[in-house]
Amino acid sequence: MPGCVFVPTMGALHEGHAALIRKGAELARHRGRACIVSIFVNPTQFNERSDFERYPKTLEADVALCREAGAEAVFAPSVEVMYPDERSAPVPVLPRVAVEPGLEDRFRPGHFAGVCQVVLRLFRLVRPAAAVFGEKDWQQLRVVAAMTREQGLPIEIIGHETIRDPDGLAMSSRNRFLSAVEREAALAIPRALHAARRARTATEAETAMAGVLSGVDVEYAVVRDAQTLANVGNGPARALIAARVGRTRLIDNAAWSP
Ligand code: PAF
Repeated sequence: MPGCVFVPTMGALHEGHAALIRKGAELARHRGRACIVSIFVNPTQFNERSDFERYPKTLEADVALCREAGAEAVFAPSVEVMYPDERSAPVPVLPRVAVEPGLEDRFRPGHFAGVCQVVLRLFRLVRPAAAVFGEKDWQQLRVVAAMTREQGLPIEIIGHETIRDPDGLAMSSRNRFLSAVEREAALAIPRALHAARRARTATEAETAMAGVLSGVDVEYAVVRDAQTLANVGNGPARALIAARVGRTRLIDNAAWSP
């Protein structure tokens, strides 16, 4: 639907997605356009087959949530529609922010190739004027913004703040896999981001996060330039964490300033 406001998702929708859709619907209303949500569990962005297979599929409840949040339509394509032939080929050159920071790109090799491939295909099919993505996947947001710019697509990429449960854990479709004990352990992640805020330098912030995260399996807990995700410079910065709690991998981030 050309000119619409688009919210791409993989389904298993929760209150965090509802906030993105409400934002999309509000923007669409102001522009006299429709808000469209896509639901597609994209096989090309999963590193582990088991992660893809256990990804929750809840289409009926998802469609109801989209309707309540103000979406006009849901686009839930099959793999055949998404990946028919060369029209869905991977993006030949990925943006630097997808391959250089050593964050998600290091721990989920190939993930951003899959994300760029599916988002580009969705953009070509849906032809939105704007698209809304959650800030919880901060590197993804930066990758999609860079890819859209580099492909010369006239699509505004809009970030939406992370929605948290009352205990501070960032909402994620994967939280449903956490046992009560694991959920308690996972709270170290928002606590670490909070601890980072009190630090005076990026190095101190990283040390503070490592201390708070000592009970979970940390992949990274770093402070980086918010745009490029290279080492911090003079511009805005972001504290970013990825950790495994039991079998569940969680990510989170927050703005950071000295
Ligand atoms: O963030 C997600 O849910 C997915 O990575 C996206 C952007 C819908 C692409 O499959």
